[in-house]
Amino acid sequence: MTVIGIQRLHGKVYWDHDALVMKNQTSETNNKTMKIVIIGGTGLIGTKLVNNLRQQGHEVVVASPSRGINSVTGEGLAAALVGAQVVVDVTNSPSWEDKAVLEFFETSTRNLLAAEAVAGVRHHIALSVVGTERLLASGFFRAKMAQEKLIQASPIPYTIVRATQFFEFVGSIANSATDGKTVRLPSALLQPIVSDDVATALASVAVAEPSNSMLELAGPEAIPLDEVVRQFLKANRDPRTVITDEQAIYFGVPLKQRSLVPDGTPRLGATHFEAWLRRSTQKP
Ligand SMILES: NC(=O)c1ccc[n+]([C@@H]2O[C@H](COP(=O)([O-])OP(=O)(O)OC[C@H]3O[C@@H](n4cnc5c(N)ncnc54)[C@H](OP(=O)(O)O)[C@@H]3O)[C@@H](O)[C@H]2O)c1
Repeated sequence: MTVIGIQRLHGKVYWDHDALVMKNQTSETNNKTMKIVIIGGTGLIGTKLVNNLRQQGHEVVVASPSRGINSVTGEGLAAALVGAQVVVDVTNSPSWEDKAVLEFFETSTRNLLAAEAVAGVRHHIALSVVGTERLLASGFFRAKMAQEKLIQASPIPYTIVRATQFFEFVGSIANSATDGKTVRLPSALLQPIVSDDVATALASVAVAEPSNSMLELAGPEAIPLDEVVRQFLKANRDPRTVITDEQAIYFGVPLKQRSLVPDGTPRLGATHFEAWLRRSTQKP
């Protein structure tokens, strides 16, 4: 069965990018347009989210240091939020060093929530990572957990969207596990999702009511981590060899089989890793 924006296949719910944009455009005639501020609006997800929401006719502010709006120093924040109903936080820290990344997400989130309270923002949305609570051996994930806790403790209505690893991040996973010409990774499951599907889902969350809870997003299939990277390197004609090593760590974290995959019923992106790889490595 296909419903607008969502395809139901084998009992699972998939997001359909084009149909969802169409649905949102159609319902636009009935819905009021909103002012939505995208903090991190120049990043990978931010850029796609800005385009999607503008296509729907919303007033979208692109907030990032290069646009004079900085969630860590507070520069430009109050002015950007005047009249805004919704704020979506898709920032990332420039440094992933333990202390720096924690300071980034804590300071940025505190500043955002304080500025939102003054501006009367009625929905704070943040993008986090599936399995954060299972990955706390890493300073990065301790920082994401701190970000989530600040949001949950604040009086601003919220939705925390946790996504699995983006297809576009697989190259960084390979690099982080590389020693010379070999890449050592365990066969723990990964259920990666393409950034377009993340942005589509976030856009629909941005125009919906706050859930005051967590929502999980994942790709359509779970694949062993070593195998995902093997496929990625092969498609890119990268000479590195992937060695399956169950003791190998993932950004400093020892993984269990299901550390990185959702354990509930996530919303699933429709794009398959193999199809994306074919498309993204095709010569013009
Ligand atoms: N990578 C993954 O696989 C994955 C999976 C799940 C969730 N996530 C989460 O998704 C989020 C977004 O990731 P992404 O890959 O889209 O990030 P990205 O491409 O690195 O973009 C980061 C954005 O943050 C902005 N930024 C940095 N410092 C800022 C500051 N002080 N004030 C305001 N904006 C600031 C950057 O602005 P400039 O361009 O001006 O520097 C940029 O727009 C992250 O929080 C990440 O944890 C990632």
